[in-house]
Parts: sequence; C-alpha cells; structure tokens
Amino acid sequence: MRRRILVIDDDRAILDVLAMRLEAMGFDVTATADPAAALAAADAGRFDLALVDLRMDPVNGVELMESLHARQARLPVLIMTAHGTIETAVEAVQRGAFDYLTKPFVPDEFRAKVSRALATRRWTRDRERLQALGQTLASTGVVARVLDAVAQAAVDATEAERSVVFQLEQGRLVPMASAGTPPPRWDALEAGAAAAMDKGVPVTRAGADGGTIVAAPLVVQRGPAGALVVETAARVVPDEDDLELLALFSSQAAVAVRNTFELERLRSGALAALGRMATQVAHELKNPLAGLRLYARHLEQRLARRGDAEDVELATKITATVDHLGAVVSEITAFGRPPELQRAPVALAGLLDECLDLAQARHPGEGIAVARAYDAACPAARVDARELRKALLNLLVNAREALVAGGRLTLATVWAPDTRTLTIRVEDDGVGMSEETLSRAFDLFFTTKPEGTGLGMALARSVVERHGGELGVQSRPGQGTRVVIRLPLEAGEGGA
Ligand SMILES: Nc1ncnc2c1ncn2[C@@H]1O[C@H](COP(=O)(O)OP(=O)(O)OP(=O)(O)O)[C@@H](O)[C@H]1O
Ligand SMILES: [Mg+2]
Repeated sequence: MRRRILVIDDDRAILDVLAMRLEAMGFDVTATADPAAALAAADAGRFDLALVDLRMDPVNGVELMESLHARQARLPVLIMTAHGTIETAVEAVQRGAFDYLTKPFVPDEFRAKVSRALATRRWTRDRERLQALGQTLASTGVVARVLDAVAQAAVDATEAERSVVFQLEQGRLVPMASAGTPPPRWDALEAGAAAAMDKGVPVTRAGADGGTIVAAPLVVQRGPAGALVVETAARVVPDEDDLELLALFSSQAAVAVRNTFELERLRSGALAALGRMATQVAHELKNPLAGLRLYARHLEQRLARRGDAEDVELATKITATVDHLGAVVSEITAFGRPPELQRAPVALAGLLDECLDLAQARHPGEGIAVARAYDAACPAARVDARELRKALLNLLVNAREALVAGGRLTLATVWAPDTRTLTIRVEDDGVGMSEETLSRAFDLFFTTKPEGTGLGMALARSVVERHGGELGVQSRPGQGTRVVIRLPLEAGEGGA
C-alpha cells in the first residue's frame, strides 16, 4: 500500500510542485489550498504524513495542525515556512509538529525530512509499544494485568477506538480486558472474535457506525483460547501494518497467558507437595518439642529454688521460645488436616468485635483509627466461630501490620437478605502489596515479614471456602489493601 501524504498550501504554484515531487517519490498525494477540504480529507481517511504551510489567510498553519491532530493524534506534520519566520516554526515544533521545512526547499533536505518523518513514525510506534508491552509481560505473573497491557497497546498502536481481549471460558467468549472507549455494542466484537478463532488468522469485518473490526486469534495451547479484537472509527481504515501488528500483539499475549498458566500449575503442584511434607515434618517435631518444653520447665523450677534470678530468666526464655515453636508447629499440622466445621448459631457482630480486640491486643500500635460499620440487619448464623475467628484475626493482624501511625483500619459488613450472603470487608490504608506479593499472598509459607510464617492468608481463605464462601483481595502499593469475604449464611436458631 502506498503511503498517503496530505499537502496544504494556499500558494497554488508551490502546491503543484510539491504534489509532483512527492508523487515522483512514490507517494499517494492529496494536495489542497483549502483548509476545510484538508480537514474533510482527514475525516475520510488516515494519512501517513502532512505538510502544512505556516502562513495561510485566514487560517494559521499551527491551528490547522492541531485540528488535524484532533482527528489523528500521531500524524507527523512538517510545517513549511518562508525565511524570517523561523521562530514561529520552532514554536510549531513545540506544539506538536514533527519538524519544519524552510522555503524555498532544498531538494536533499526536503527528501531527508520527509523520509525521516515517515521512518521515525514507524520506528517509535513499533519499538516503543513493543518495548512497553514486553516489560509488562516480563514483570507480572498476573494474567489480568497482561491482558490489560495487550488491550492498551493494541489501541495505541493501531489508533483504534477500542480494543477487547476475549477469552474462551466454558464454551463462552468472555471479555477479559479492554481499552479505549466502551463499545456501543458487544455482539459485533464477540462475533469478530469468534470468526478469528474459527479461521485461526486475523479477520476484518464491518463494525458499528461504519467502523471496522479487526480480530486476531489468541492461540494458547493446541487451539485458540480467545481473540484480540479492535474496532476503529468510521474514517480509520486499518491497513496491513495494523493487521500485522495486531497479530504480533495477540501472539505475545498468548505466550504470556501460557506462561502464567504454566507457572500457576507448577506452583500449585509444588505447593501441595511442600505442604504435605511440612505437615509431616511438623508432626515429627511435636513429640521432641513437648519433651524439650518439659525439661525447660524443670530447669526453670530448679533454678528458681536455688534463687538464681539471672539463670531463671534465661530458662524462661527457652520455655517461651519452645512455646512459640510449638504454636507454629500446631498451626502447620492443623493446616494439613483442617478440622470438621463445628457450626453453631453465632452473633457475628460480637465475633467481629472480639477479633478486633484480639488484634488490638497483639498489636497495640499507636495512632491507628479503627472504623467499624456492621449491618445491624445481619441475623445470627450457623458458622464455626473458632475457625472464623482464626481467619478474621489473621486478616486483622495483617491489616495492623501494614499500618503505620495515622493509618486507618475498617471492618464492615453488609447483609444481603435475598441471597442470604454476608459480605465482610477488612480494609487498611497501609503499605499495600506489589503485584508479585499479591499474586503469591495465598501461597503457603509466602511471607515478606521477618517474623512471618506465611500461613495467615492461606488459612483465612481455607476457612472461608470450607464455609462455602469466597475470599478476594485488592491491593495497591502505598495505598492499602481490601480483603472481601462473601459468606453464604445458614440460618441460626430462629432465623429465616
Ligand atoms: N493487609 C495487608 N497489607 C499488605 N500486605 C499484606 C496484607 N496482608 C497480607 N499481606 C502480604 O501477604 C503476605 C502473606 O500474608 P500471610 O498472612 O499469609 O503471612 P504473614 O502475615 O507474612 O505471616 P503470618 O503467617 O504470621 O500471618 C504478607 O507477608 C504480606 O506481604
Ligand atoms: Mg499474616
């Protein structure tokens, strides 16, 4: 496809010369002396370059350039100017022109600037987008983030109105990530995705409002697992470059999705094995620890009888440390074999207050505001209070540990009677988690704390899931963390 160049100059003679010269260089030229006609041409189709005269009556070239940029944001513009107006030309560059050409034109300079404008444009658009995308893909193990980056890159690189990444889930195409303006209609985009997946290659079809839909399949394992779809505005016709770029993005997306799945599979397999081993080791440690504790207590008492205060203190430290070890060991063993739930009717507000008090006792941090907002309509429910207390306590302790003075911890509940679901929210405006931490927070033994065991989150989720509920986390570094628990409640005594 020939590159399209728009030339606007109110001097007919110059216009003709420029058109001839550019055509001789192999370009498809639209030359006009009328700014309104130029804007109409930009409305009708995309250009690769525009040459705009600086001084035209009554229009100013820089303003015309800005109107062109409103239609096609990254259109490279060369401002043409006569000698003596260099300062204005410099200003034009500051306002978004790619470069300026001084009249009369010097053939070599003319040729060089035109090809540089064209080449630079292609170069930045490919290199910068690919580099940014590559970095995102390398830096995150979170599928959702990868797909967001792909959608964004597709919009930027193709000048499309919008882009959506669809994934096939249980036979249905689900939009997983999107960028650009929201689509007026999803069905056309979905149909495009389905067509690309059927064909196995990028496809083009008519979109809403006269635009074009381009879809490229996302081939993850044996077959397509989804598609990357972009939709352009009516005047933008995607060219072969755009198709190629889209196919490239979708193949990068596919690699990233595959890697992330693979990583998750490996991680959960390895973790399960590690968990089993840890439970066995913990079990083996139980008896010797009990013995050690007994001897240490014995020693403590003997030394106390001798009245040796300093040594008593040492022995007490040994006992305390052994106790701590014992607690860790029984936590690990409990994790390996979670007890049957002992459900009984519980007033949840009381349970939540109790957990707050316990967390407070463990972390008597100064200057932390605690806000509670319980839904008074929540009825008593049949839950395992002991287990639920353990889960909530871990979340509250995490929140306290994330907070510094001046921070705020929120514990809130919302009761939805129609679905009999209680939503519990534990929120802090503390340090937050990086993407890496967030993606691993539920891994057994994953911790970023020097004294942590890395069991709290995994335990909390396991308790909630054994109650038939769900636990999710949102977090941003430096902004805080929100844990949301959705718990379907079995009615308590006298409940509905
Ligand atoms: N509210 C939070 N704010 C910031 N980071 C958090 C929060 N909750 C959890 N994390 C991160 O998740 C990691 C795992 O949490 P988890 O509760 O499982 O273990 P831990 O707190 O490190 O140790 P412990 O087993 O003693 O609870 C933490 O080390 C921390 O990096
Ligand atoms: Mg914790």
